[in-house]
Amino acid sequence: MSHYFTNDYIKSNEHTINVIIKDAKLKFIVDNGIFSKKGLDFGTRTLLENIDLDAIKGDILDFGCGYGPIGIYLKKMTNAKIDMIDINKRALNLAEKNAKLNDVEVNVFESNIYENINKKYDVIVTNPPIRVGKKILYEILFGANDHLKENGKLWLVVNKNSGAKSLVKDLENAYDVTIVNKNKGFYIICAKKR
Ligand SMILES: C[S@@+](CC[C@H](N)C(=O)[O-])C[C@H]1O[C@@H](n2cnc3c(N)ncnc32)[C@H](O)[C@@H]1O
Repeated sequence: MSHYFTNDYIKSNEHTINVIIKDAKLKFIVDNGIFSKKGLDFGTRTLLENIDLDAIKGDILDFGCGYGPIGIYLKKMTNAKIDMIDINKRALNLAEKNAKLNDVEVNVFESNIYENINKKYDVIVTNPPIRVGKKILYEILFGANDHLKENGKLWLVVNKNSGAKSLVKDLENAYDVTIVNKNKGFYIICAKKR
């Protein structure tokens, strides 16, 4: 069975979508076999509309970048240095193309969880892959702690139907957690490294 997060072959059907997020007018090529192929995911939009852009400085990681909306939007709106990683080769290829299409310079590379990450970040931003299961999800979210600089922050979006409430409780064991906003079941969470 194919999931959007595997590299299984799924027939390609690239098309371009126009997206406006706050003041940014962006274009993205999307395709079959990636997350949210029809357009900007509502959770991702809510995350980007709520993230504190003043804090997007220094080294930023877009974890699980997909076709690139998070990293590309943040680069459009800030001067930060942006790394974007995913496990899905088709998504990585689209993220590269979409960076060029939107005229931004970002660093896109393949990484399974943090295996190819050898630096620390000021902020890690993610709409995390829920369907990978709790074990890998927690490796991503708690592993972020080891890849954040002092006072670094993990920003994420999770839906209440995907267990946002219990996730917040668990995150509180490792981070100082703020629920920045809740919109139609989507929790926007900022988890600060202790
Ligand atoms: C919910 S999607 C978000 C995609 C994109 N950031 C967006 O907002 O549209 C999560 C992404 O995590 C990626 N992913 C899943 N497992 C991963 C892993 N082990 N390491 C890195 N990325 C992974 C998926 O391929 C997918 O693109």
